[in-house]
Amino acid sequence: MKGSYDTFMRKEIFEQPESLTQTLRGRLVKKSTGPATSDGTGSGFTSVFPLNDLDMDDVPFEVQLGGLNERMSDIRRSNRVIFVACGTSYNSCLAARQTMEELAELPVSVELASDFLDRRCPIYRSDVCVFVSQSGETAETLDALHYARSHHALTVGIVNCVGSSISRLTDCGVHLNAGGEIGVASTKVYTSQVVVIIMMALLLSSDSRSKDARRAEILRGLAQLPSRVEATLAAVDEMMKTTAHKLKDQQSILLFGRGYQYATCLEAALKIKEVSYVHTEGIHAGELKHGPLALVDDKMPVVLFASCDATATRVHNALSQVAARGGLGRMIIVGCDGDAEVMRYKDSATLVLVPQVVDCLQCVLNIVPMQLLSYHLAVARNLNVDQPRNLAKSVTVQ
Ligand code: UD1
Ligand code: M6R
Repeated sequence: MKGSYDTFMRKEIFEQPESLTQTLRGRLVKKSTGPATSDGTGSGFTSVFPLNDLDMDDVPFEVQLGGLNERMSDIRRSNRVIFVACGTSYNSCLAARQTMEELAELPVSVELASDFLDRRCPIYRSDVCVFVSQSGETAETLDALHYARSHHALTVGIVNCVGSSISRLTDCGVHLNAGGEIGVASTKVYTSQVVVIIMMALLLSSDSRSKDARRAEILRGLAQLPSRVEATLAAVDEMMKTTAHKLKDQQSILLFGRGYQYATCLEAALKIKEVSYVHTEGIHAGELKHGPLALVDDKMPVVLFASCDATATRVHNALSQVAARGGLGRMIIVGCDGDAEVMRYKDSATLVLVPQVVDCLQCVLNIVPMQLLSYHLAVARNLNVDQPRNLAKSVTVQ
C-alpha cells in the first residue's frame, strides 16, 4: 500500500532508512566467547545493530552473513569473482567493485548478463559467479546462472525476492531483506544491494589483520547509514523539486563522476531516463576530453558528483573544464556538507549537499537526491511514475 505517498516510487525512496536497517539487521555482530552460529544470533555472536554513534566506537564488531557461512572458504580460495546482473542491479555491482577488490584482494569483474551470454564468457570451476537481482527472475541473469552452473563455477545469489529462481538455484547467497519493491524504477533495492556487496567484501577480508582499521571505518559507516540517509532525504527533497521544475523542459542532462561515483552517474542517468524520458548520459569524468566535452556548452545541464575521496583533485579538474565551457550556472554539484572545496561554488552553481560518510558508502547517500530528482521530473512532466512506458518490473523474457 502507498499509505500517504502519491506513488510507490516516492514511498520506496523514503523507506530507505528502514530498508537499509532491515538489510543490516542481525548482520553486524559482536564477537563473544563460545562457538559461532550460522545466523549471527547464537552464542558466538551478538547482534549489535542498530546502535547509536556513541556505542559504535566502543564495540569491535564484524559482519555475519548466515547465507555465505558454509561456502566462505571456497569463495576465499577462488581465482576471481564475477558479478553478473542487469540494469540497476548491474550498477550496484559497479558501485561496490572497488571495495570488493580492495578488501578481498581478488580480481573482480562486473558483467552485464546479456553481454556475458553473448560472449560465452570463459568460466572455470575456480570462479565464483555472483548473480545480483531484485526479482531473482530476470531472464538474462537467470540464463547466465544456468551457464555458470554448467561450467561448474560456485554460484552466489544476492537477491531481494525469497524463493525466486535465482535464490533457489544458486549454491548460496544473501537475501537483501529490503521489503517488496513495486515501482518499476528500482530505488531502495539499489542501496541495499550496494550494502550487501560491501558486507560480503568485509567478510572476505575478515582474516586480514592489516585491514582491521579500514574494516572498522566501513563497519561504522554501515551502522550510520540509515540515519544519514534519513538526514539526506530531509535535506534535499524540496530542493530536488525546485531543480526538477527548472529542468523539466530540457532535452538532455549529462552526469559526470569518477571513482566510487562513476556508478552513481550511471544509476542516476538510468533513473532519470526511465521515469522522466529525458535523455541522460552517465559519463566517467576521466573521459571528458576523449569525446563528451564536445557536448558541453552554456545550455547543457550537467550534474557532477564531487565527493571528498582520493579522486577529489581529479573531479575538481573536470569541474573546471566543464565550467570553462559555459560557466557554472547550469551545473548541479552533488557534494559533502562542509567540504570547503565544494562550498566555493555555493553562489555560482546549484549545490546539493549530503552528509559525509566513509568514501565507499558515499554513493548510497549521493544517489538519494538523484532518485528524488527523477521522481520530481516525472511528476513535473505529468508522467506515470510507477509504470513508465514500455517497461515491466520484472523482465522474464529476453
Ligand atoms: C536466515 C533467514 C531469516 C532469519 C535468519 C536468522 C530466510 C530466507 N532467512 O537469514 O529469516 O531471521 O536466518 O536465523 O529464511 N540463498 C541462496 N541464494 C540467494 C539468497 C540466499 O542460496 O540468492 C540461501 C542462503 O545461502 C541461505 C538461505 O538462502 O542458505 C537464506 O539466506 P539469507 O536469508 O540471506 O540468510 P540469513 O540472513 O542467515
Ligand atoms: O530484478 P532485477 O534486479 O534483476 O532487474 C534488473 C533490471 O531490469 C532492473 O534493475 C531495471 O533496470 C530497473 N527497472 C531500473 O530501475
